[in-house]
Amino acid sequence: MIKKSSFGKVWMLAIAATCSLQANAQAGFDTSAKISALIKQLTLEEKVKMIHASSSFTSGGVPRLGIPELVTSDGPHGVRPEHGRDWELDNNSLDSGTYMPVGVCLAATWNPKLGYDFGSVLGSEAAFRGKNVILGPGINIIRGPLNGRNFEYESEDPFLVSKMCVGYIKGVQDQGVSACVKHYLANNQESKRFTINVEMSERALREIYMPGFKAAVQEAGVNTLMSSYNKFRGQWGSHSNYLLEQVLKKEWGFKGLVMSDWNAVHNTAQAYWNGMDLEMGTDLGMLPNPDYSKFFLGDTVVKLIKAGKLPEYLLDEKVRRILYVMFKTGMIDGQVKKGEYNTKAHQQTALKVAEEGIVLLKNDNNLLPLNKNTVKSIAVIGYNADRKQSMGGGSSQVRAFYEITPLAGLKTNGGKVKINYAKGYDIVRGGGADQKLIDEAVAAASKSDVVVFVGGWTHGFRYDVWADNAYDAEDIDKQDMKMPFGQDELLKAVIKANPKTVVVLMGGGAIDMTQWVDKTPAVLQAWYAGLEGGNALAKIIYGDVNPSGKLPMSFPKKLEDNPSYALGEYPGDTAQSLIVHYLDDIYVGYRYYDKFKVEPQFAFGHGLSYTSFDYSNLKMTTAGNTALVSFTVKNTGKVAGSEVAQLYVHQQKSLLPRPEKELKGFQKIVLAPGEEKTVTITLNEDAFKYFNDVKNTWVMDNGNFDILVGGSSRTIKLNGTITL
Ligand code: GLC
Repeated sequence: MIKKSSFGKVWMLAIAATCSLQANAQAGFDTSAKISALIKQLTLEEKVKMIHASSSFTSGGVPRLGIPELVTSDGPHGVRPEHGRDWELDNNSLDSGTYMPVGVCLAATWNPKLGYDFGSVLGSEAAFRGKNVILGPGINIIRGPLNGRNFEYESEDPFLVSKMCVGYIKGVQDQGVSACVKHYLANNQESKRFTINVEMSERALREIYMPGFKAAVQEAGVNTLMSSYNKFRGQWGSHSNYLLEQVLKKEWGFKGLVMSDWNAVHNTAQAYWNGMDLEMGTDLGMLPNPDYSKFFLGDTVVKLIKAGKLPEYLLDEKVRRILYVMFKTGMIDGQVKKGEYNTKAHQQTALKVAEEGIVLLKNDNNLLPLNKNTVKSIAVIGYNADRKQSMGGGSSQVRAFYEITPLAGLKTNGGKVKINYAKGYDIVRGGGADQKLIDEAVAAASKSDVVVFVGGWTHGFRYDVWADNAYDAEDIDKQDMKMPFGQDELLKAVIKANPKTVVVLMGGGAIDMTQWVDKTPAVLQAWYAGLEGGNALAKIIYGDVNPSGKLPMSFPKKLEDNPSYALGEYPGDTAQSLIVHYLDDIYVGYRYYDKFKVEPQFAFGHGLSYTSFDYSNLKMTTAGNTALVSFTVKNTGKVAGSEVAQLYVHQQKSLLPRPEKELKGFQKIVLAPGEEKTVTITLNEDAFKYFNDVKNTWVMDNGNFDILVGGSSRTIKLNGTITL
């Protein structure tokens, strides 16, 4: 209910918003006159048709005026299999496409250019499949290891999220397709995702949970954004005036459209007044051919406008945003690009992302790489070695054109090496170790020179059965960090039989390794690395590729060490109040481990190489509140390799408490043996600011700042101090 007095204020704000929108549109992309002319020709009913779905993945068009339906499709790492207009999975269409590595694998490359290439492939394939919007990237902060959808996202650190999503979005949109950054905001768990209410401080919001979305809007010019299922400070994500109107549209100047997550709109007036432009997926009961005019932003809006209960100018503002996106992608007044599908180039990009995203966590006595000329046999053990993952995970599922499994990759890239495979474990939720399978695995390990164990987490196969055998999937969180299906027991038996065991972990993030990590010489984190994942993994194991991935999130030793658990709350009170208090606040990930002196299993930014790097020659100059930092990195080993040099900033004394250090710059450089390069990173004043939620603004305290440079958040090689 809007009080009379505030009505006037709302009018003023709205008029200001419309003007600023037109001004912005005029400046960058002169379609506002054409859009205004179109809006004048549209009837009330036609406008309302445009602000809600017209089928499972489309929204209403107006053929009379040449306004097409907006066609959307999942997902963040590949174009989802075709669904009919009423959701049924269409098993006949030729929709097997390029299954890219998942979000965390892309983030683990720490290579923004590769982010652009990734987005280009996704946009091109979406265009080919006739989609106007691809529903990705998913960039929710990885706050804790149990979130079932972590695999789809990117990082625990907002700076890395920002740098990797900007390239991706530009890549997609340069293909004439709109990206859709999601899920705005604080959708960091799957437990009760449709109903929980997230409470957090303004500092945590501004410093941790917003920067990725702000970068998507202001640096990448993302065309569409998807609001989140959960409530935020008591208001649904799809109805949050603060998030959608005040911050996203007014403060950040977002000109595109806000769509809801599917079935995330709950009230007509709230959605209408508070910035929801396009209602998708509302559940009208699983009827065939549901009547989409029954949506909250359907006929009810027509009636309320006619009754003078809702102002029409807000409808025009929503339609303006939808038309803005259509003009920007050539859907109106242009031609939609046709895109390409399943090309060799797309597959090569997928391979490159996998090669650069797989992380070498441990490599004692340089067990890796394996020399395929001297190693006679390898025991490949583990169900994940021979399992296809692409259709797992929920809405981000992809029917892969093909999928090279680790086993296939090790065979085809192994030359004369004899591969002995043993499944080792079965994928049955709650299933324990199977002695027969263990015996087979031990036998294979005993008769082989080396063992490559491939295990870890796993996706469910299909949308409908993901819950019973998935540990990385939408709508379900992991219960703990324990490796499932009796893998710990299996692995200990295998290592005992053959100490030369390389452990390869697949999945969306950290797993409890404490039972065996000290007993195994080598560990690789392989995520879900796309349709070329098996080849990338094999090339790294055989040394054809030198690994360069770095962890985009901390791996805690055990769940209790993680801040969302230790400081709390995860998943919050999902039985009663449904409130989740983000008491870990700004101390997410390494910010917590540093501040509270907790040793992670593997640190944020950690990743080894088959060569070694030396850092030297740190130089820093300041001009005003900007600093120029340069340093030299040298490849001191025998093989070429890439290093991600990371720059962290530590404020010595601050008015409010701050993390020990924060990532404020990084650069990935390729170096031949003996080669050295100078890296230069500019830090503008944003790199030194924090959000003072007493003054409710970003501030920079004058004083001393330490500049820390190294190959991970816990291997700082250079350290200097500047005064601002
Ligand atoms: C799902 C997901 C969202 C997806 C949408 C359409 O519930 O939360 O990421 O894009 O619905 O499938």
